[in-house]
Amino acid sequence: MKHDGADKRRRRFLTAATTVVGGAGVAFLVVPFIAYWRPSARAEAAGAPVEVDITGLEKGQLINVEWRGNPVWIFRRDEETVDALETIDAQLVDPDSNDPQQPDYARNKYRSVKPEIMVLVGICTHLGCSPLFRPDETPEGMDREWIGGFFCPCHGSYFDLAGRVYRGVPANLNLVVPPYKFIDDDTILVGEDDEEEGVA
Ligand code: FES
Repeated sequence: MKHDGADKRRRRFLTAATTVVGGAGVAFLVVPFIAYWRPSARAEAAGAPVEVDITGLEKGQLINVEWRGNPVWIFRRDEETVDALETIDAQLVDPDSNDPQQPDYARNKYRSVKPEIMVLVGICTHLGCSPLFRPDETPEGMDREWIGGFFCPCHGSYFDLAGRVYRGVPANLNLVVPPYKFIDDDTILVGEDDEEEGVA
């Protein structure tokens, strides 16, 4: 069963995807990521933090950056998505982030520093595939309420838009939140924070 606002969200996400296609070309027709940004080879080899400008990231859009050879997803949630994260705890393995899959500052119901900005390592915690972004349409085989999230096609694991894994799927850990911090309102540094230790 879909959330009441699903139709509204669908329209909004489709609008976002269309905007992306118009602005960035056909490469984004199938996967609605707005960009794929790679650091220089030198920075990558050194595992350097990656600075990401999210000025143009609109609600419902997701950007994919690379950090230490892994995809890191940054997604701007709208208010409806933020609210929906509080409605499906009973369907999740670890809704309160008790497992150490995130730095302490992301151990909250949004698994993020700011409720509206999601930052996750895009690697499935089952066997390491990269899940697909499914912000609205219910993925294949999903028979529970879908508020948007990620679907791993390798063996059928589902995660919500905070990277929390649903019960009854092969993966049993939430997606990893990398260490990160905001340099200012529109700039995120992935791979470095102000804590002494982070995950990853
Ligand atoms: S690798 Fe994702 S479900 Fe197995």
